[in-house]
Amino acid sequence: MPAPQASIRARDGIIGRMTFPVRMRAWRVHEYGGPEVLRLDTAPVTSPGPGEVLVKVAAASINPIDWKMRNGLLRAVIQTALPRVLGRDCAGTVVAVGEGVSGLEPGTPVAGVADPVKHGTHAEYAALPASQVARVPDGVSPEVGASLCVSGLSASIPLVEDVQVSAGQRVLIHAGAGGVGSLAIQIARHLGAEVFTTCGAANRDYCLGLGASRAIDYANEDFIAIASDCDVVLDTVGGEVHVHSQKVLKPGGALVALNAAPVPSTPPRADIRIVPARIQATRVRLERLFEWSASGVLQSTVESRFPFESAPEAYRLSESGHARGKIVLTLA
Ligand SMILES: NC(=O)c1ccc[n+]([C@@H]2O[C@H](COP(=O)([O-])OP(=O)(O)OC[C@H]3O[C@@H](n4cnc5c(N)ncnc54)[C@H](OP(=O)(O)O)[C@@H]3O)[C@@H](O)[C@H]2O)c1
Repeated sequence: MPAPQASIRARDGIIGRMTFPVRMRAWRVHEYGGPEVLRLDTAPVTSPGPGEVLVKVAAASINPIDWKMRNGLLRAVIQTALPRVLGRDCAGTVVAVGEGVSGLEPGTPVAGVADPVKHGTHAEYAALPASQVARVPDGVSPEVGASLCVSGLSASIPLVEDVQVSAGQRVLIHAGAGGVGSLAIQIARHLGAEVFTTCGAANRDYCLGLGASRAIDYANEDFIAIASDCDVVLDTVGGEVHVHSQKVLKPGGALVALNAAPVPSTPPRADIRIVPARIQATRVRLERLFEWSASGVLQSTVESRFPFESAPEAYRLSESGHARGKIVLTLA
């Protein structure tokens, strides 16, 4: 029997489509809270609006923003109605395109980032802005494609665009074993930098294998004493680490900071730049990451795979703060 069809009317504005169902399984929250509020619901499949594509999800990654949204920590920043589907990025196949979309057809293998106010990706189908989606080249799996979106953008935009790391510079990447850090180490090395990183003792060899020349055990070593004269610090930790990171920069250096933990309000050093990272997905930025993956510049950092049905377990691992590399949900 054919799959039930979504109701397509002229005003839906869908200009190209394959078969897709009207309902799907999706991880949603009806109230904010701990892992117990995650519910595997049957939810409507959203037809793609103007400028959107509908993706049949094959893999989706877990990012700290997912459990921060589930907990309600981002309520003031990202205002959205409940129930809502969680998840920021995914990879899969385009099954329908909305009005005004070009360059992506039904059947195209893609990965990209959802608009956090409108849609989530921890679901069997996800509507994404076409401007935040790119074709995934042959040889890059959906798992890897999904893993490169939020984390890859968060590593590459600061290093490549915000502070333009160049050959011969010394770069300190905090939390080098994490989702962002594991990609940032590789990108900084690709740009020709000498890379220092902080990580737990159990992740030292992992970080060295990614290209760091020095992996500093943050629990037992003092990164301020070891990583001196840095040109750039990528701060993925925040708090006191942000404050102390200013001490390892040479004059004229740059501290580029992801919004990780609140930063104490101490006056910054006058002879360095503090650059708040602004992570905005674009097709061109995603294409750069996928090309790096296809050409071997970036090796996969997918370290934990969970079936879609085990999402709460995957969220718990992310929330532990000690996951290695990327966590990915896989859908059959
Ligand atoms: N502003 C933005 O747009 C944006 C974008 C992306 C990420 N972020 C934020 O950036 C942070 C990092 O993201 P992520 O995806 O990389 O997280 P993640 O994958 O969950 O990070 C886990 C890693 O952090 C390491 N770690 C924990 N505490 C550390 C410390 N004090 N020093 C060094 N390493 C430490 C752990 O290493 P061990 O297991 O060895 O301890 C673990 O490998 C999160 O807070 C996230 O919300 C912000």
